[in-house]
Amino acid sequence: MNNKTYGHFDDAHREYVITDPKTPWPWINYLGNGDFFSLISNTAGGYSFFKDAKFRRITRYRYNGVPMDNGGRYFYINDGKDVWNPGWKPCKTPLDKYECRHGMSYTRITGAKNGVEASVLFFVPLKKWCEIQKLTLKNTSNETKHLKLFSFAEWCLWNAATDMENFQRNFSTGEVEIDGSVIYHKTEYKERRNHYAYYSVNVPVQGFDTDRESFVGLYNEFANPDAVMEGKPRNSVAHGWSPIASHYIEVELQPGEQKDFIFILGYVEQPQEEKYETHPQSLPKGGMLITSLGDLDRTIINKVRAQETIAEFDTVEKVDKAFAELGAFWDDLLDRYTVKTGNDSLDRMVNIWNQYQCMVTFNFSRSASFFESGVGRGMGFRDSNQDLVGFVHQIPSRARERIIDIASTQFPDGGCYHQYQPLTKRGNNDIGGGFNDDPMWLIFGTVAYIKETGDFSILDEMVPWDNEPGTEVSLFEHLRISFNHVVENLGPHQLPLIGRADWNDCLNLNCFSWDPNESFQTTENNSVGSKAESLMIAGLFVVCGKDYVELCKELASRTSETSATSKYSAEAQRAEKEIDKMIAAVKKDGWDGEWYLRAYDFYGNKIGSHENEEGKIFIESQGWCAMAGIGQEEGMVDKALDSCKKYLDSEHGMVLNNPAFTIYHVEMGEISSYPAGYKENAGIFCHNNPWVIIGDTVAARGNDAWELYQKISPVFIKDQTLHKVEPYVNCQMVAGKDAARPGEGKNSWLTGTAAWMWLTASQYILGIKPSYNGLLIDPCVPSTAKEYTVKRKFRGGEYFITIKNPDGVQKGVKSLIVDGKPVEGNIVPTSEGKHTVEVTMG
Ligand code: GLC
Ligand code: GLC
Repeated sequence: MNNKTYGHFDDAHREYVITDPKTPWPWINYLGNGDFFSLISNTAGGYSFFKDAKFRRITRYRYNGVPMDNGGRYFYINDGKDVWNPGWKPCKTPLDKYECRHGMSYTRITGAKNGVEASVLFFVPLKKWCEIQKLTLKNTSNETKHLKLFSFAEWCLWNAATDMENFQRNFSTGEVEIDGSVIYHKTEYKERRNHYAYYSVNVPVQGFDTDRESFVGLYNEFANPDAVMEGKPRNSVAHGWSPIASHYIEVELQPGEQKDFIFILGYVEQPQEEKYETHPQSLPKGGMLITSLGDLDRTIINKVRAQETIAEFDTVEKVDKAFAELGAFWDDLLDRYTVKTGNDSLDRMVNIWNQYQCMVTFNFSRSASFFESGVGRGMGFRDSNQDLVGFVHQIPSRARERIIDIASTQFPDGGCYHQYQPLTKRGNNDIGGGFNDDPMWLIFGTVAYIKETGDFSILDEMVPWDNEPGTEVSLFEHLRISFNHVVENLGPHQLPLIGRADWNDCLNLNCFSWDPNESFQTTENNSVGSKAESLMIAGLFVVCGKDYVELCKELASRTSETSATSKYSAEAQRAEKEIDKMIAAVKKDGWDGEWYLRAYDFYGNKIGSHENEEGKIFIESQGWCAMAGIGQEEGMVDKALDSCKKYLDSEHGMVLNNPAFTIYHVEMGEISSYPAGYKENAGIFCHNNPWVIIGDTVAARGNDAWELYQKISPVFIKDQTLHKVEPYVNCQMVAGKDAARPGEGKNSWLTGTAAWMWLTASQYILGIKPSYNGLLIDPCVPSTAKEYTVKRKFRGGEYFITIKNPDGVQKGVKSLIVDGKPVEGNIVPTSEGKHTVEVTMG
């Protein structure tokens, strides 16, 4: 094991402090919580976009660049002797000091060289459409310093996909305007765009550049731009090619003196009739042809909105105030669930980083990270429903809105678009539908929302099918149809037909692809006559189906009108019968003797059986059928969990399947395309490990749950060099035991793992579960756990919960005392105000 670390946690500030810029991979953070977003690495690499990482990309990012993570928002300092950057890159001049603090929606990078310290605070103010970069330069020496400061940002020509490929057009379209200390990027503004971007600084500049080649020089790199090395800006004006924005500022600092500079990278949208500076009325609404150009100046953009934002942040005081507001926003969000266990790693995972990652995945789905290009996927139907479960306690109103958006992309038969675009909120036709697990996730997300908020009114919202106006039915009806979608799509063993795929996008049982030029994900599937069934969906159906039944019963008890009451009761009964049938089907044809089968293929052959040569056992069906408690009385759950330990577990977590596929199986598709030990082919796909952990808690196996939880939590990782990616967030996959380097992490940040780890820790291990009628207390802990406290804000109340485990049990609540009074059962009723809750396990 390699003991080298690249940084440490600073819990008091909720930061991860990187002290070595040469991390094994860029370690990034996210800025922005609303519309304007930025990705920023520990060396200030990354990019910004507005709402949609594909269609409104503001600054350029180079995929497959060499070196990795090349390009970003850079400050160059030429001190006469050296040229350096506070974030070390791109010059890579050795620094006297380097530190990057990634915090909650902000990053602060500090570098020092030759008696000057440069510190940059990057953040997006709440509800604003800009990234602020507050640069503080400090002379820590005894002599006067004369510095030449250059800022740098490179514009993306808006569409991040065509920006990378349509050069015959792109090299002619770039346009900028320079006005004092503000550089405007207005490519395509003269035609259909009503938006531009700008980069400003709050002091006068002594020069600028907007043309990349003039600034960098055709044969140089970001590490040694001509203008910076010579200490001379070119005052270039870009026409086509690659527009950039660079300010040049001469700075004099007396010994001990400090100066602040506020740079703003912003974005503006304007109404059509206000696009240009002069004659604001001269462009008609609705894009009619301009017949008389008259005295309309068609080149000078209307800058008022940009100037307003710039004025809002033109002093340090204003910036500091906005930064404090951002801090207060996070104080509030992270104050809803806090735990004290005495184990610092667990506490920081639950209290800080896991909740933070849940917000990020909620915002970004799977679109933009250093592994997701932001040009490919939109918001996933199943992904977003899972993400919101990790986020709903933070800002329930946004979760509510998301549920309605997602449900609006459903088809009348309960099937769903697999993805939708965040800008238009419309279903994505490239990928279409047919993933038969999708409908279940709508029940999963909606139930979590109602249990958190008690807001049953969401069920009455009128929601269209496929965004078609006039087709609206209630959200409850969407749930009912979702439930039925499984019931109406059963295969020969009365198990759910898998369709294109279930949660595992790479188990493509109806695909049969031999053409390397087609994507497993988007290619036409041949489901006609298919017998492909999924045990994962079966387990998911039983879990979500039971949720649906519980919801119907709750609705029945809440309606006073007898016809409504009986309608919901009848629906509950009907649904229960379907669930019982599914349970029976799993027991009959879904059990392999020591574990649950994974699936039946197109022809009806078993997948995930001891009879198979490769892929004898899969994690997903063990997790879901265990969570569903299918066959618990007969010992199936325990047997399946034991088999997971025996065949799937490893030092770094449980692999997805075992043995890994070593050859391509056309009847299984993409899963067998990956080398053994990676991704869905026997990688440790972190997302599904929590299913087993929750399964453990269902079976009262607290020791096992805790052991696996630690393996999957980034904060417990010991070998940072091997793990490679950020030690403060989960990644989608860690290389499995069959891989070349087991334990190597990939695809950090945007993964359903975040929400599932949150559910696992907050509700199933620590055991504080929102329920319709209060907080249900049901911990499942390692037998060594003695005592811990949780503070939980819930529906207007604040609960200070102490859980004691005097007998060293793993599960079970012996007594519950609320505000000094014993309560029967294990539900803490809700009411406003502060409450103490004492729980004794036993
Ligand atoms: C990715 C997808 C998710 C899928 C999983 C397994 O994380 O975003 O939808 O369930 O891979 O294939
Ligand atoms: C597959 C990936 C999977 C992802 C899917 C959808 O190639 O292995 O993780 O969910 O694509 O993009």
